[in-house]
Amino acid sequence: MFSIGSFQEVAYIFSAILFIYGLKMLSREDSAPAGNLVSSIGMLLAVIVSLIEVVNPILVLSAMLIGGLIGSLFAIRVKMTSIPEMVALFNGFGGLSSYLLAWSELQSLNSVNIITLIGALTIFIGGLTFSGSLIAFFKLSEYLKSTPSFLNSLSKYLLVICLVYLGLFSSYILLQSFGISPSFLPNFELSFFIFLVVSVFAGLVFVLPIGGGDMPVVISLLNSLSGIAAALAGIVLSNTALIVAGCLVGASGLVLTLIMAKSMNRDLYNIFFVGYKSSSSSRGEVDGEIRPISSEDAYLILESASSVLVVPGYGMAVAQAQHVVKELGDLLQENSCEVSFGIHPVAGRMPGHMNVLLAEANVSYDDLFEPKDLNPKMSTIDVVLVIGANDVVNPSATEEPGSPIYGMPILEVHKSKTVIVLKRSMSSGFAGVQNPLFFKENSRMLFGDAKETISKLVSEFKD
Ligand code: TAP
Repeated sequence: MFSIGSFQEVAYIFSAILFIYGLKMLSREDSAPAGNLVSSIGMLLAVIVSLIEVVNPILVLSAMLIGGLIGSLFAIRVKMTSIPEMVALFNGFGGLSSYLLAWSELQSLNSVNIITLIGALTIFIGGLTFSGSLIAFFKLSEYLKSTPSFLNSLSKYLLVICLVYLGLFSSYILLQSFGISPSFLPNFELSFFIFLVVSVFAGLVFVLPIGGGDMPVVISLLNSLSGIAAALAGIVLSNTALIVAGCLVGASGLVLTLIMAKSMNRDLYNIFFVGYKSSSSSRGEVDGEIRPISSEDAYLILESASSVLVVPGYGMAVAQAQHVVKELGDLLQENSCEVSFGIHPVAGRMPGHMNVLLAEANVSYDDLFEPKDLNPKMSTIDVVLVIGANDVVNPSATEEPGSPIYGMPILEVHKSKTVIVLKRSMSSGFAGVQNPLFFKENSRMLFGDAKETISKLVSEFKD
């Protein structure tokens, strides 16, 4: 006989297929929007099927409605430049829901067994994800100071204490499940309460000492952890869809974390436990002088160039200059100039940030190139137009072994014939380090808001 349980399992497998197929479609820009839809339908199916056995569906539906409304409002109102903060917040709430779910399940268990242990792991990872994500949110929104503070080394010891307590509490559960009552922790209720607090505290001490420049990698790792917490919660609840969705988020978040670490030429230990080292040269004097240029002169240089490479960065996102950048690119092409775009994997403030902005302005993906393709031929490029990028074109990363960003792969624009840098002032980029590019002989500084400056260049071309 076909039971409700087997119907649910079949539906969960079907939704898992939709998740995986949707994810696959996300890997190509033309199929990505449809991929998003396919995965969302998979999730809707899983949610509807889960509701069959819920004791109070009205309560669950009301919670979903309120949560969905708040989430949608957030997502609609958020500025493109604030997406990383929003992702951090959403990861945190994912962790919190796994934490609360496992807490409630453990309360209703009659005996201590292996599910108790999995529930405890869910609580630890969910709690850590929640508080860590909140700190990441506050750091990215600049409510919290981004640079590592004196608390750093203390935080490391506190994190070790949290991990030791996790080990002790897990052993306590294991021994209890074998009928042994260990005496190294107080009674279960009190030990469990301490564990709930320690789990949240672990996230605070893990993320607090990490510098703002490393926040994207942290967010990606927390995203992965929120998936792992959800998968573990799925085991506690025996919910196949939650296990599959959690594993997908856990695995993809981890892959993204590793890709980002590789793009910055750092290992994970260095990112999470060492950070950007402060160096005397990071904000110090640089040899050479800056050469400001007017938009009229910049136009003359661009007008006679036969190849132009556009390198966008965070400043292009702030100025929302992508549409005028596209217009300028078109005008250059009409002027028989070869135009390409150099995209650094961590340019901006989130993975794919520049790709999304340029796609919004209809710049073809065929015109976007990675540093490894561009660097070998950089010396043949007439003009590089750096639009609000800073760290990702900082030659200290390759030339100055003492620099905090030394070793990070960059776009080596200083090797081109002429560089025109568009920014508002001489202030540093996200990593807070001085940029010798601005002082090189072949560099010209075009000061001002990127959108206004490029609009002026566009007008010059049209006149
Ligand atoms: P940044 O190094 O942050 O430099 C951005 C530059 O844009 C600043 O120097 C700023 O100078 C300029 N700027 C800001 N607003 C502007 C405006 N309206 N018009 C013109 N210029 C403007 O950016 P980047 O080169 O893209 O490097 C990204 C950095 O962020 C890296 O350190 C990376 O590790 C980090 N990060 C990356 C991510 C991801 S995943 N992409 C996430 C978080 C952090 P002025 O103030 O003088 O104008």
